[in-house]
This record gives sequence, structure tokens and C-alpha cells, in this order.
Amino acid sequence: MGIWKLHGGDRLYGEVTIQGAKNAVLPILSAALVTGCVTTLENVPRLRDVENTLRILECLDCRVERDGNRVTVDSRPARLNPVPPELMTRMRSSVLFLGAMTARFGAGCVSMPGGCMLGPRPVDLHLRALETLGGEITVTDETIACRAPRLRGGHIHFPTPSVGATENALLAACAAAGETVITGAAREPEIGDLQNFLRAMGAEITGAGTDTVRIRGMTPREEVTYSVMPDRIAGATILCAAAACGGDVTVRQVVPEHLDTVTDALFSMGCGIQTGRNTVRLTSDGCLRSPGVIETRPYPGFPTDAQPVLLAACLKAEGVTEFRETIFSGRLRHTRELMKLGADIRVDDRTALVTGVPVLTGAAVTAMDLRGGAALIVAGLTAEGETEIVDRDLITRGYEHLDRILRALGADITYSD
Ligand code: UD1
Repeated sequence: MGIWKLHGGDRLYGEVTIQGAKNAVLPILSAALVTGCVTTLENVPRLRDVENTLRILECLDCRVERDGNRVTVDSRPARLNPVPPELMTRMRSSVLFLGAMTARFGAGCVSMPGGCMLGPRPVDLHLRALETLGGEITVTDETIACRAPRLRGGHIHFPTPSVGATENALLAACAAAGETVITGAAREPEIGDLQNFLRAMGAEITGAGTDTVRIRGMTPREEVTYSVMPDRIAGATILCAAAACGGDVTVRQVVPEHLDTVTDALFSMGCGIQTGRNTVRLTSDGCLRSPGVIETRPYPGFPTDAQPVLLAACLKAEGVTEFRETIFSGRLRHTRELMKLGADIRVDDRTALVTGVPVLTGAAVTAMDLRGGAALIVAGLTAEGETEIVDRDLITRGYEHLDRILRALGADITYSD
């Protein structure tokens, strides 16, 4: 458990290099298992979920080495060993090992996945996709197993786009005989990054980033070197903090287009936005106005993961902002904690109405999930007095050195384990 202590009121100035994307590196690490090869990954953030995923790979007899932000995974000696449930249940993305193990070993078993409590998070679409490719699924209270001595290509259709299910389907389809077509695929940029990595491993895949992805099989390579894409949610978090505090902050090593919906909202709130090839500069006088209605949607819509931090940036914005959360039913739990700082928020089911208040006041609060925790940090940076956030290892699951980064920009913030 960690404690964040913040004294709000400082403006933020400077430049920040954004970490590699958590939600891209986790599927890519699972993909390193799909064939026996030596994978060198650059731009790998130091995060609890990443370290956990590396431990899972070690349990499967992969050789793992880390040197700063470079990680090498040698999956040639891999074997299908049992993985301790406590490693699997800590994070949602462990379910991706089902597709990866089945691709590599013809069978796989994972514990029921954990991750943030954002409401019900079923895996039916993952399982249906694996069944379409010939997998036989067995589910118990604690585990999900898949058996498929011979995966075969097929047509997988997702009635609603799911990032994880699309990724699991991609991983398994690489080992299938014949072509697989996925329709209704999620279009998030992290799926594009997984496609690029799998291509570097020798897979024939096209279409990631659209709703139709085609996989025609794989000619395995012995070595792969790949650099993980930038984390658009970490980028969005810094931009929202800078908008709310006021100041002049440039985020570097981002893909500005991935941040379009967030920067559009911040622009409409009165911030100056300047984008370069891989930078976004935000200027703000800290006096913001409401962006109106924000509705979360699958990519290229407004990301559900950025909703909490933008909501936090709206707490003092003039006017009323309506947040409609359409992806996860339990994703407004941070609002209760934000109200302890004096925020005016009315929640009705999946909608939060935020009325801007002139002043927020520091308080003791608890992070309820990863992005909701980041929202408490953004709000605390704009509150008068001290805010103390109890963090049961949730915020550190997704942000690398967030305390150091914000301190370098001028914030008064500390984190202690
Ligand atoms: C991923 C991200 C998470 C992000 C989310 C939406 C990772 C590790 N996590 O989560 O940060 O918030 O995308 O952008 O990449 N659903 C089903 N059945 C399924 C799977 C999903 O009904 O089998 C539903 C979910 O309940 C949810 C929606 O589909 O309402 C989208 O979820 P999904 O895209 O699968 O999210 P994750 O992959 O879990």
C-alpha cells in the first residue's frame, strides 16, 4: 500500500517524456509466447502489471531479462506449466495468455482474470472467439481452460467491440491453419501495436485499426526487436493535470492523433493546444469552462480510461459538464471521493453531472481504481491544502514515476510505499 501526499495550487511548467503504453506492452508480452523466439522490447514501462506478466512468462520457462526500459524474453524453452493463481488474478490482461498458450501449446489454462473493479467484466467474447477457431473451453469457478490441438481459421464476429477479445483472437489466429477474419473488431491503437509486433514476429495480419482484421498465419522468426507505442492515457493524465493547474506543459513521445478527443475537449475548455509530430503542448491559465457533454465510446471515441482525469479537470470549470460512461457500469466510483474535496457532482446510474465550484479543499481520500486514483491526483493538485490519497497499489499499476514527473513540472507531491 502507498500514500500520496499533495499540496495543491502550483502551476505546472516543463516537458515530459511519456512512458510506453501499459495496454500495449501487456498483450505484446503475451504474444512473445506465441512462437519460440527471442524478443527484445524497448520502451517497456516499469509497472506492477508488467513485472507480473514477466513473472508469468518465467513460470512458463521463458527466460526474461530487464535492463532499464528494455526487456528481453526468450520463449524458445517455454513449457505449459501451471501458473500460480495469485499472479493471474492480479490483472485483467492475464486472460490474453489463454490465446497465447493455445497458439503455442495447443492448450492453455488461466485463472479468472482480475484487474480494476469497473463493474461486471465478462469474458464471453474471448471464449466465443477461441471456440470459433476450434478451441474447446472448460470453465470452473476459478479457471478457464482451452484445448485445441489444431486451431483452424474462421470468421469471428464481435457484436460489440472488445479490446481484449480482439487481442486474444489475434494471438490464437496466428497459429491457426487458414485465414481468420475478425469483424466488429475493436479499433484501439494498442491493437495496431499488437499487429505490428506480430508482423515483426512473422505473422501475416492486416486491418488493425479498422473493424475488420485478417490473419493469414505465421512464418516464425528467430529474433524480434520492437519498441512499444506511447501511453495515450498517461499522456492524457498529464495534459488534464496541466489544464486544471494552469501552466505550460509539453508531452513528448506521444502520437498526437491518439489524444485527439482529449485535446479537443481541453481546447473547448479554453486551453491552448499545439501539436507537433510527436508532441502536444498545452497552455492554460487555470480558468477553464465546461466542455459540455463527454460521452465515452470505443476508439476513436472518447476513451473511458481518460474519463476520470478529464472529469477531475472539470471540477472547477465554469458551467455544468455531463459525463456519460457507456463502456463500464462501475466507472464513476471516484466521484464519491472527489466530493470529499468539495466537488459538486450528481451521479445517476452511468451519468455524472459536474457543476464547477470556485474552490476545492484538500482531504483524505482513497483510490478506488487505477484511473479513478489518477483523477484524485489531478483534483488534489488544484485543491487548497493537503490531500492524502491511500493507494492499494492501484495507481502504480499504470503510471511509471508519476510523482517524480509531476514534481519535475513543479507540483508539490510525494509518494511513499
Ligand atoms: C481494455 C483496457 C482498459 C480499457 C478498455 C476499454 C487493457 C489491459 N485494458 O480492457 O484499460 O478501459 O479496454 O477501452 O487493455 N465485454 C463483454 N464481453 C467480453 C469482453 C468485454 O461484454 O468478453 C464488454 C465489457 O464489459 C465492456 C466492453 O465490452 O463493457 C469493452 O471492454 P473491453 O474492450 O473488452 O475492455 P478490456 O479489454 O477488458
